[in-house]
Amino acid sequence: MLAVLCVLFLYFHNPVCGVFQKLYCTISDSCDCDFKPNIRDLEWDLYKNLYGQHLAQDIVSEEVTRFLQKKNPERPLVLSFHGSSGTGKTMVSSMLGNHLYGSAMSSPYVHQFVPTLHFPLPGRVKEYREELKSWVQGNLTECARSVFLFDEMEKLPPGLIDVLEPFLGPSHVVFRTNYRKAIYVFISTTGEKVINKMAVENRQAGQDREEIKLADLQEAIAETVYNSNTSGFFHSSIIQQKLITSFVPFLPLSRHHVERCVRSQLCQRGSCARTDVVEAVGGDMIYTPSPGKYFSSTGCKAVPAKINLFL
Ligand SMILES: Nc1ncnc2c1ncn2[C@@H]1O[C@H](COP(=O)(O)OP(=O)(O)O)[C@@H](O)[C@H]1O
Ligand SMILES: [Mg+2]
Repeated sequence: MLAVLCVLFLYFHNPVCGVFQKLYCTISDSCDCDFKPNIRDLEWDLYKNLYGQHLAQDIVSEEVTRFLQKKNPERPLVLSFHGSSGTGKTMVSSMLGNHLYGSAMSSPYVHQFVPTLHFPLPGRVKEYREELKSWVQGNLTECARSVFLFDEMEKLPPGLIDVLEPFLGPSHVVFRTNYRKAIYVFISTTGEKVINKMAVENRQAGQDREEIKLADLQEAIAETVYNSNTSGFFHSSIIQQKLITSFVPFLPLSRHHVERCVRSQLCQRGSCARTDVVEAVGGDMIYTPSPGKYFSSTGCKAVPAKINLFL
């Protein structure tokens, strides 16, 4: 009855309705907190605009689809992105926000953490732990379908992220808060060595890039992340307890991929025809390892700056 009244007349002005709405939002499937997932658009965006990342395309599509199909997920979706700079990690995390919420990345339910901004002092881990915990808890109370993006995990002081452990596991529904409907994305360059090594070996063996399988990399990334004191997950119970749904490797990009990045950005600027610029930017990147020079050391990161140089 209260629900009907709230919807019909009182909704915006009545604090009781605000509380009711929050409660409704946490236990209902049709939560009103701006959650409008469009899996098809997400898949299309990944397929069309993300180059050279068959593993990320497959895992992100599959895991998000599987997760959203569940009315009552038994645990939250926790993805951890790994790979060299400029390979598309931040870009894919934005795609997620863009296709899950009505107001995309500016949705108040997409929360982005940048360690250097939010947690700059390693000596304050104790305070940061408290802040992070109540921040996540508060946001989940507002909206069970919140998305939390932790970029640049390698700059997060060790010991901080473990405070999230109770949220990432199959915890029970606490009154007004269902911890298990949230999505967490961690991003770091940790693991790039093992990913890039595999990509180089694949190239040297003359195999297709698509032959690199997730199973070949998952364990190795998990181990590296756990043993590296600059991964944000150093000796973390989150890794020990296997609370990460999937580690997502981002492969290094070759010249061919870099040139696709250039072409796409040139077109966005209305200069689709400038193949000379595509060629010039592609040739101006640094490629490693030597010998071989298979992969761009900065992925597509420096592309806009170089286009400015040659256009
Ligand atoms: N695999 C990719 N496919 C298409 N564009 C890419 C890819 N990787 C990087 N880019 C381009 O380079 C920019 C920087 O990439 P970004 O996602 O910030 O890299 P990362 O977070 O892995 O360091 C992106 O905004 C995008 O324009
Ligand atoms: Mg990034």
